[in-house]
Amino acid sequence: MNTDPLFSPFTLENFRLKNRLGVAPMTRMSSVKDSIPREDVLEFLVRRARNGAALIFTEAIVTDYESAQGYPGQARLVTQRQIEAWKPVVRAIRDAGAVSIMQMFHCGRVAWPEINPAGRIIAPSPLIPRDLNPLTGKPYPVPDEMSLFDIGHVILGFVETAKGAINAGFDGVEIHGAHGYLINEFLSAYTNQRHDAYGGTVANRYRFAQEIIQAVAPVIPADKLLTFRISDWGVVDMDVSLFRTKEEYQQIITSLSQEPLDAISVSAYDFQTKAFGTDRNIAQLTREATSLPIMICGKIYDRATAEMALKDADIALSAKSILLNPDWVEDVRQGKPLRPYHSAEADIAYTTTPLP
Ligand code: PHB
Repeated sequence: MNTDPLFSPFTLENFRLKNRLGVAPMTRMSSVKDSIPREDVLEFLVRRARNGAALIFTEAIVTDYESAQGYPGQARLVTQRQIEAWKPVVRAIRDAGAVSIMQMFHCGRVAWPEINPAGRIIAPSPLIPRDLNPLTGKPYPVPDEMSLFDIGHVILGFVETAKGAINAGFDGVEIHGAHGYLINEFLSAYTNQRHDAYGGTVANRYRFAQEIIQAVAPVIPADKLLTFRISDWGVVDMDVSLFRTKEEYQQIITSLSQEPLDAISVSAYDFQTKAFGTDRNIAQLTREATSLPIMICGKIYDRATAEMALKDADIALSAKSILLNPDWVEDVRQGKPLRPYHSAEADIAYTTTPLP
């Protein structure tokens, strides 16, 4: 029997992951034409599958042409041309023995109008982050408070994008509810100050996420995967704990457990950090509230940290390490001494320099 905690297989619904290591969703901002990523960016995903990663997430793909986009050069997956571009990538990932999941999101208030084709920016409430937009050096513009029509329109964008992913052949779809983007903005009282059915109580703040999951689930065939990503931190105002208490966080995890989801992916900034003033990390607090499989990321860079992370989770996702080191999975297998990379080193991801 294989008892290696990292290189033992894991069953995720109909899929058998060959090990517990995956590529976290990472943006590349390379989709300058037709919202299709650059060829070398797509090849990067295939190379990671060939080099041993069991699970490959795409970069976060934006869900509509009105207000979803938050960064230049993001991808979409709703047109035939976009679908055709992803098909060979998905096939190659499968041929390499890995599982592919398309991650999709709406950036909400972490956007600026100029980069959206329809020039609009929307959020649960008309509140801006304290932080300036690092790409423009200016404050983020005040978003429009979403109307009920907006809510319905955004949900359709998620559904259309999920359909695109299924058409392209992906094994699964992930709804990105983390990092201070739109879904996370609804979940958190820091950004949601609505007085209607979508704001106030935790149950009300959860409603938007639930409506998206419920709308997307029917377009995912029963033999494919639907996952949800969550975090307690956002890319703006990063020091803010987006959930006020452990109870609030766990109530949302419990609610997610009742949805047709196959796993919850928890994005930690550092997986070892004790969360919400408890003596437990966020994976442990997630585990207490759900029996769904859990993915974890955040400063996992060598065999020791991966093994430690997998004490409280089922799958470890790597971003910087697997981005910068094409042999990361093999190096971890061999227990090579590896160092954590700095964020600045990963900035190469946003250039036209092909990755290793
Ligand atoms: C994120 O999830 O933090 C993220 C997603 C897409 C981007 C940038 C950041 O383009």
